[in-house]
Amino acid sequence: MSPSSSAIISLLLCYFCLFYLLQSSESSSITDYYSSEDDQPYRTAYHFQPPRNWMNDPNGPMIYEGLYHLFYQYNPKGAVWASDIVWAHSTSKDLINWIPREPVLYPSQHYDINGCWSGSATILPGGKPAVLYTGINAENQQVQNIAFPKNLSDPYLEEWVKSPLNPVIDPNGSNMTDASSFDSPTIDYYTNDHQDKNIAFPMNNLPEPNLIEMVQSTSDPDMIDASNFRDPSTGWLGPDGRWRVIIGSKRGKRGIAILYWSKDFIHWVKAKQPLHSAEDTGMWECPDFFPVSTIAPVGLNTSVDGPNVKHVLKVSLFDNSKEYYTTGTYDYAKDVYVPNKGSIDDIFGLRFDYGKFYASKTFFDSAKNRRVLWGWINESSSADDDIKKGWSGIQAAPRAIWLDKSGKHLVQWPITELETLRTGHVDMPSKLLDGGSTVEVLGLTASQADVEMSFKVTNLEKAEKFDPSWTNAEDLCARKVATVKGEIGPFGIMALASKGLEEYTAIFFRIFKANNNKYVVLMCSDQSRSSLDDSTDKANYGVFLDVDPTKEKLSLRTLIDHSIVESFGGEGKGCITARVYPTMAIGDGAHLHVFNNAAEAVRISSFSGWSMNKAQIN
Ligand code: FRU
Repeated sequence: MSPSSSAIISLLLCYFCLFYLLQSSESSSITDYYSSEDDQPYRTAYHFQPPRNWMNDPNGPMIYEGLYHLFYQYNPKGAVWASDIVWAHSTSKDLINWIPREPVLYPSQHYDINGCWSGSATILPGGKPAVLYTGINAENQQVQNIAFPKNLSDPYLEEWVKSPLNPVIDPNGSNMTDASSFDSPTIDYYTNDHQDKNIAFPMNNLPEPNLIEMVQSTSDPDMIDASNFRDPSTGWLGPDGRWRVIIGSKRGKRGIAILYWSKDFIHWVKAKQPLHSAEDTGMWECPDFFPVSTIAPVGLNTSVDGPNVKHVLKVSLFDNSKEYYTTGTYDYAKDVYVPNKGSIDDIFGLRFDYGKFYASKTFFDSAKNRRVLWGWINESSSADDDIKKGWSGIQAAPRAIWLDKSGKHLVQWPITELETLRTGHVDMPSKLLDGGSTVEVLGLTASQADVEMSFKVTNLEKAEKFDPSWTNAEDLCARKVATVKGEIGPFGIMALASKGLEEYTAIFFRIFKANNNKYVVLMCSDQSRSSLDDSTDKANYGVFLDVDPTKEKLSLRTLIDHSIVESFGGEGKGCITARVYPTMAIGDGAHLHVFNNAAEAVRISSFSGWSMNKAQIN
């Protein structure tokens, strides 16, 4: 063989080697689309997340001396959940920019040695905070513990002290105060006598992950199932001087919010009946119970009751990983909560968010007179990808939450502080969007944006008939994705779209006419084309919006943040959060379009968009 032909053969071999290498590395996973930790296209710019590792529920959010605190379930050892989870901690002046602090609660004592699970903060008289949290004890039972800040003059509340009286609520334990000793003297829980010094627990000494061995559930109706007894709520103080908290549990298939009373927040006694329960809902995690004003879009302190006040009970259902709430009446005298007539108390009920959003928790922001909602956006990537990218879990944007004028449901809106990140404003003049048309929004960073728009439909009489059997908005959205042409709608936006629209997440409306001549407005978030990676969850979400299109414009606000598309329809009457992992529509490859894939035209009556600056997050 001549030297030149052997050179050609070597070249060909190299070419095939390279071709083979490229072929074999053809992406099957989103993490193949980036190479290093610094080059992670899916980390968010203004949604809260820890620098690395696993995060789930928001815990004990509160404001103390003008500073916001967020604790959260965190696994310091990796990107997957582990039962010996800890309470991590960050602080903020504005709920947008966050400084990480050392975790505050590690498993360390017999009553939490297998994990420090979720819980809530309560501001006690004199403005002193306390947190109640679930500990997984040495017997793998779920018990409730209390911790207090070590030093109240430290604005960052960096060290917390577990009470030596823990567990303060033991499911069926003998250490419980009984009703006869209910008038126990008030204890000053801030004296050193009650401080447990042993809070430091070096990370590398953490016990090995411990699978929770399920304790046998009991058939005795008065016994609490110690493996389903967790997530104490924020406490509220009644006019009788008693504190109340609820703890999530279940009895058979009945989800229940077990009620406890205390005079001193330390000694607790179980009330004879739960605050509320509902058949066939399974385990209630992270119950949240709070008052709302019937006359103003403001927040109320958790202990407030009286005229012009309704209550909200939200529960997170372990069985389907979704949350539901009812609005209703709280009867202080009987200590029970009764949902309003028509407020559906099961898996067909109302949700804060119809997308990925779980284990949420509110707190009363006394500085701004509002109630703020935090919620965990769980992943749609595979656990393998989470391990490769080194992190998992994110928090939705903090939202103000209040009762709608109708009194029938809540309204949510991203806290106004988020707007301080807006930059590079883009406006679109009022414009008719013909059926079948798409307009690209130019001039903003489409992977990191905040957009607000409203649509006006003039020819409503053309609306398709609404079939009364369409009771499930999510199913309807899954059948009628963005590519399915309708009469009025789908119209909305395609976020995180690739140049050739191979990938996009579409958020859109459809309008139907019901038998009673009223219009039905459907809002969908269609993830079916959100990623070319088939291992990601691409479920579609939907909600029927309480909007009358004959009287109101149809508004949409969407927060786009690399792998989050968080949408608020009808001025916050319906929210849907999508967790998406595009493979092409990342960074500069992301585009934003307004579209109308209907027979009828629709008017974009207003459109404002902003690129978003990066917040300082942990
Ligand atoms: C909800 C939840 C809680 C529990 C915590 C453990 O996501 O399962 O019930 O306290 O997570 O991390």
